[in-house]
Amino acid sequence: MATHDHHLNGDTNNNLAKKPKLSSSSSFITASEIQSEFSHHDPSVARINNGSFGSCPASIVKAQQLLQLQFLRQPDHFYFNNLKPGILESRTFIKQLINAHHVDEVSIVDNATTAAAIVLQRTAWAFAEGRFDKGDVAIMLHYAYGAVKKSIEAYVTRAGGCVIEVQLPFPVNSNDEIVHEFRKALERGKENGRRRVRLAVIDHIASMPSVVIPVKELVGICREEGVDQVFVDAAHGIGCTDVDMQDIGADFYTSNLHKWFFCPPSVAFLYCRRSPSCLDLHHLVVSHEYGNGLAVESAWIGTRDYSAQLVVPKVLEFANRFEGGIDGIKKRNHDNVVEMGQMLAKAWGTNLGCPPEMCASMIMVGLPASLGISSELDTMKLRTHLRDNFGVEVPIYYRAPKDEEVGVITGYARISYQVYNKVEEYIKFKDAVNQLVCDGFTCALLSK
Ligand SMILES: Cc1ncc(COP(=O)(O)O)c(C=O)c1O
Repeated sequence: MATHDHHLNGDTNNNLAKKPKLSSSSSFITASEIQSEFSHHDPSVARINNGSFGSCPASIVKAQQLLQLQFLRQPDHFYFNNLKPGILESRTFIKQLINAHHVDEVSIVDNATTAAAIVLQRTAWAFAEGRFDKGDVAIMLHYAYGAVKKSIEAYVTRAGGCVIEVQLPFPVNSNDEIVHEFRKALERGKENGRRRVRLAVIDHIASMPSVVIPVKELVGICREEGVDQVFVDAAHGIGCTDVDMQDIGADFYTSNLHKWFFCPPSVAFLYCRRSPSCLDLHHLVVSHEYGNGLAVESAWIGTRDYSAQLVVPKVLEFANRFEGGIDGIKKRNHDNVVEMGQMLAKAWGTNLGCPPEMCASMIMVGLPASLGISSELDTMKLRTHLRDNFGVEVPIYYRAPKDEEVGVITGYARISYQVYNKVEEYIKFKDAVNQLVCDGFTCALLSK
């Protein structure tokens, strides 16, 4: 069984030592210290959805509040003496964590949604200024996050670009299935060389359904096939899967730090590989630093609360209280979420949405077909029902049956595992679903 004690005995991989360490403490965080760090979580809820909003330990909340007070105490002093060096320090830590070449490649922005808009705004300008031809293509995964799809519509379609979606199977059994569909979509995009593919937007860990995408391989294919630029949306990336800029080789890469890296909401980085295109990347909010490079522009977008951006070094200190630091955490989260997913699928007689090696700290678990999930609206109603009546917080994905399919699984729960989770929470979810099945519940019984 996965318990907190079990976490503390995680393996000691030599790679784990490579990442920046702030403390050399020899005694790791204890189960009761973890409990106290997350004691602000509502104890009545089995919170198995770290994926949506992440989580922030009490010691980091405290550090953030101190920074907020420092600002309020003497804003001018804070602005002139603390803000810029503080943000540079955070960027330097991130640069080391993600193995970027240079700190100038790393900008701090609010969230992945903002980062995507920054990249896509540049694409829109290229259309508007005649560097791209009408009908040039942007390619994205069918699994792309809804807000990012809307952003592509707003910045690319509206500017005259053509958007091609890579259709992906679900459940998915291998990376080869993804690679195959990606190549097919690229061929469609290029239209035998009649069109240029200007941008590929690739998720690192797709949100819904959650699957780890073989991003390095897809970036390699883009290079071979002459795609101009690749943007990786890794909103879940850091703290959840391996994030190495030199290895992945994308032009742009964003990851939230408030999802799996314990930062308060909200903070993300946007990496831009050093190249002339970096110079043409601008924050959406124009302020005094316009034209001084995205990293500097992003460090002042007007008066606001920058404290979430400044606590990054403290967060690393927190992560280093765990054996193996952030890499140790992510490995144990993965092992535990797989174990919990398998336990649930077995109990319900269903299956996982992908093999364990294609997931990180979230996994898709099939729900019993008898629940009668037959639309996206049903998934929302069922999720609300589980929250309100069973104290379980978990997102659900609707997978429409294909024409010839009957009695198949149409709903998959996306479970997460983070350091604060306990086995009992997954048992609570298992029992809730078993109870619904036993009571003859179907989604059709829920009102709108
Ligand atoms: C793949 C993906 N992209 C983008 C986002 C947006 O993240 P944020 O709301 O922090 O901007 C999410 C959020 O879940 C996501 O899963």
